[in-house]
Amino acid sequence: MRIIVCKNYEEMSVKAGEIVKDVIGRLHRPKIGLATGSTPEGLYKELIRMNKEDILNFEHAETVNLDEYVGIDENNEQSYHYYMYDKLFNHINIKDSNIHIPSCKDKSDKDALIDYDKELDYVGRRDIQILGVGNNGHIAFNEPADKLNLRTSFVDLTDETVESNSRFFEDGETVPNRAITMGIGDILNADTILMMANGEKKQDVVKEFIECKMLDTHFPISMLHVHKNVILLVDEIAYAKVGNK
Ligand code: F6R
Repeated sequence: MRIIVCKNYEEMSVKAGEIVKDVIGRLHRPKIGLATGSTPEGLYKELIRMNKEDILNFEHAETVNLDEYVGIDENNEQSYHYYMYDKLFNHINIKDSNIHIPSCKDKSDKDALIDYDKELDYVGRRDIQILGVGNNGHIAFNEPADKLNLRTSFVDLTDETVESNSRFFEDGETVPNRAITMGIGDILNADTILMMANGEKKQDVVKEFIECKMLDTHFPISMLHVHKNVILLVDEIAYAKVGNK
């Protein structure tokens, strides 16, 4: 694993943009795995800038997203569909038909899983997968558990994750406690994995991830240790506890 420590969030976002550009810049049909949450917002601004300056072209790019809440409409501002269009897709030259986000709209749970697995199979191995991590070590919405799913599945979010996500919701709004998520097998199906983490809340998870010696389903991020090309991109604050007893 390559570890890159940046001064702050801004520097981390610029560096993430450079890494993405290095991986997909010359590809005709880049395949990109995307995450939501606050971590990649700065990266998405960089991708928009590079697209506007003709440094990156998304005309033939295919994107797959990690996850989506269950029980809120895709037009709802809190949905990950809304987030992706708002933070990235509305501002770059990507084709709507090349965007893949798990969806439960107008379909049974069973079909939602089958359909997203099919979309992932259609896109195939990604050139790069962007990831963030939950404070409890979840990746996508694969929460700590006795078993982890390889493919798309429904998950009940832990109280800790619901609590952490509540910062995006207005007072009184219900924070969803169920989600559909890409599985660990598909997350690992990428040539490069770019895991980003910043800020004080990520100090413990970053330390545990770097220092862990075992794969642990109760610490899902540990599964990334089986992948041969992971870049861990962090800011100085998130990295601060590494090496401390
Ligand atoms: C988002 C996702 C989650 C987040 C994680 C960190 O699509 O899959 O695993 O990456 O919860 O969220 P932030 O970036 O808001 O700290």
